[in-house]
Amino acid sequence: MNYARALLREVEGYTPGEQPKDPGVIKLNTNENPYPPSPRVLEAVHALGPDALRKYPDPLAVRFRELCAARYGYPGADWVVVGNGMDELLAMALRGFVDPGDTVLATYPTYSLYEVLCQLHGASLKYVDLDNHFQLTEEFFRTPARLCFLTRPNAPSGVAVPREEVARFCEGFKGIVVLDEAYTDFADDNCMDFPTRFENVIVMRTFSKSFSLAGARIGVAVAQPELINEFLKIKDSYNMDVFSQAVGCAAMDDYDDMLARVAKVRYSREGLRNKLLALGFDVPESQSNFLLAHWKGVPTARELYQQLAARRILVRYFSARRLENALRITVGTGDECSALVTALKGILSR
Ligand SMILES: Cc1ncc(COP(=O)(O)O)c(C=O)c1O
Repeated sequence: MNYARALLREVEGYTPGEQPKDPGVIKLNTNENPYPPSPRVLEAVHALGPDALRKYPDPLAVRFRELCAARYGYPGADWVVVGNGMDELLAMALRGFVDPGDTVLATYPTYSLYEVLCQLHGASLKYVDLDNHFQLTEEFFRTPARLCFLTRPNAPSGVAVPREEVARFCEGFKGIVVLDEAYTDFADDNCMDFPTRFENVIVMRTFSKSFSLAGARIGVAVAQPELINEFLKIKDSYNMDVFSQAVGCAAMDDYDDMLARVAKVRYSREGLRNKLLALGFDVPESQSNFLLAHWKGVPTARELYQQLAARRILVRYFSARRLENALRITVGTGDECSALVTALKGILSR
């Protein structure tokens, strides 16, 4: 007997990047930050007494939402909702603003979780290809949908479409626009002011990348209070546990520490890109903490991925259309980037 809902029989589910047990592996496959989070984060965890564990956390995470609102230039917590990672907020956006059967729009390529979330919700995802430079096309502007996921900077290309293009899109689009800014702290600019300008825009951020807190599962969404109110109706009562709230507040309080780490990653990103270009890879300029390195030749990109893994260096390989000749490489520490380049030189010279 198959007891699952009919809808689920077609769904394979999302496959996250590998999390190897071996601590000796150089892990450049899931866009984590290679540097530790602010020391204040651990202090905040240690400061939690038994009572904090015994009782339920603040269901509305008010202090953390207020800190986010202040940092992002908004009048108060009613402009912000927080969640168990941005992934939870993405799913909530579908539950809040899309009826089963509706169309959702996204660029191709993009973050592959959107497709799984749409399948689970019974919505149909319409992909419109980015052009060869990973920019929006006029077809994208013309495609109607109930909601659009727009990733800026894009994953997995790392390219950020110009802010003015995003504004033009938000202005003309009749549904909700979710601007996924997971990687925006590594970029030159962002669209965090858009919710003041557009009533249909929700900007989402994660603490998994720039704040080095992927393990804590912290996501933030900013939008006009009417939209935030819908999220508050949908969310689980205690969707952010006491640790994540404490950790999120401590990380926000030490914002400069995050900025310093981001500067190091941006510096390594340029160095790594130049070395990959010198090795013959085609690498678009990235505004993120990863590079999409295209490779045409022998060994193939898939073989390169396998041979790097055999040397205990993990990068991400997608067999999907337009990505099958590329490696997505997270920018690691200077030493990690050097180890990768040395390994690639070794493989390519054989
Ligand atoms: C584009 C994009 N959006 C959202 C997320 C999810 O972030 P979180 O770890 O907060 O769930 C990721 C994670 O890799 C991502 O790449």
